[in-house]
Amino acid sequence: MRPEIERFRTAVLTISDRGSRGERQDLSGPALKDRLVEDGRFQVVLEKIVSDEPAEIKAALIQWSDKQMADLVLTTGGTGFSPRDLAPEATTAVIERPAPGFVEAMRAASLKITPHAMISRAVAGIRKSTLIINFPGSPKAARECLEFILPALPHALRKLAGDPADCGS
Ligand code: MTE
Repeated sequence: MRPEIERFRTAVLTISDRGSRGERQDLSGPALKDRLVEDGRFQVVLEKIVSDEPAEIKAALIQWSDKQMADLVLTTGGTGFSPRDLAPEATTAVIERPAPGFVEAMRAASLKITPHAMISRAVAGIRKSTLIINFPGSPKAARECLEFILPALPHALRKLAGDPADCGS
């Protein structure tokens, strides 16, 4: 985020073969958007649905980061074990610096809700000045995971934007 801008520019990328073909209404992207808007510190500037094809996922992530179109990108879907669940691989291919704390926190907190949380292979990392975080694809799971990491996101994004303030001050 540029320091003079108050709200973090956020992009939501829904990753779903059926959603991209219009065969299913994907509700996880809107669920993430609603919660971010409700929070007030985030502005959802981009929303897109792509197929599970890694090339499509990578193209969106690269464009949004390299053109500095978003401070934060949340992807939803494609983090599980199905053969077409390739969001973590596509994300890993484009990030320059891993940021595992967010997905570690999601899995740790989610395990208190469901043992299925351990199936999520979500990753997070930084490309240029954009933080990219994978979320699971169900609206319930996406909402839960966002809740767990929301408290740390603003500080992380300020630091990523170059905020020189001492942490904890
Ligand atoms: N995390 C939370 N908080 N709540 C959930 O219900 N579902 C899990 C997991 N993470 C879940 C969760 C399930 S069932 C799967 S298969 C994985 O996320 C991967 O989901 P995805 O393939 O839709 O990305």
